[in-house]
Amino acid sequence: MSLIVVAFNGSPRPKGNTYHALEAVLGALAQEGISGEIVQLGGRRLAGCAACFKCFKSKDKRCQQGGDEMNEFIARAVAADGIIIGSPVYFSNVTAEVKAFIDRCGMVARANDDMLKGKVGAAVVVARRAGATFAYSAINFFFGISQMVIPSSNYWNLGLALAPGDILKDEEALNTFKTLGQNMARVLKKLAQ
Ligand SMILES: Cc1cc2nc3c(=O)[nH]c(=O)nc-3n(C[C@H](O)[C@H](O)[C@H](O)COP(=O)(O)O)c2cc1C
Repeated sequence: MSLIVVAFNGSPRPKGNTYHALEAVLGALAQEGISGEIVQLGGRRLAGCAACFKCFKSKDKRCQQGGDEMNEFIARAVAADGIIIGSPVYFSNVTAEVKAFIDRCGMVARANDDMLKGKVGAAVVVARRAGATFAYSAINFFFGISQMVIPSSNYWNLGLALAPGDILKDEEALNTFKTLGQNMARVLKKLAQ
């Protein structure tokens, strides 16, 4: 059985620090024979949830707001066995694009019998200095209410960096991301048995 991991990059910088952090996790997953793909979420024009609750009527695993690409992102999450959400820290929280995804995908999931239940979810965050654990928690709250399984690492899944590529100098973070990938692979394989 082939397992699929989707890694959403919530940074508007496609090759910034969040990208490299996600690459480190995906590299460890690949070593374990699990393929993953980075999907660029940051920088897309995504609206927040309009609270229309039409998803509770349609129950088709789609957001009924329309007007943007959100349903493509939701479909990628539904198709995956593992979901990684990566975000730079913006004012002590996730980016607006990540929050839009959490709110809209999260509400569609609730409208569809917790459609993400049992999937494996991991948060990856990068800050210059502060707010990383808050953003990490924001993502994990989404995984938690979605009845997803959250693997851990030997530290919280965060790195410290400012300019694009700086994260590659944060050796402790790279080790944390590698360990996260290894642990995520173990959980994915166990759940697939
Ligand atoms: C709008 C904005 C807000 C930010 N807020 C914070 C913050 O609250 N705490 C922090 O440590 N870094 C903050 N940063 C710095 C970024 O988190 C940091 O540069 C990170 O490495 C960017 O990741 P990226 O290269 O993947 O975009 C902020 C950057 C921007 C553009």
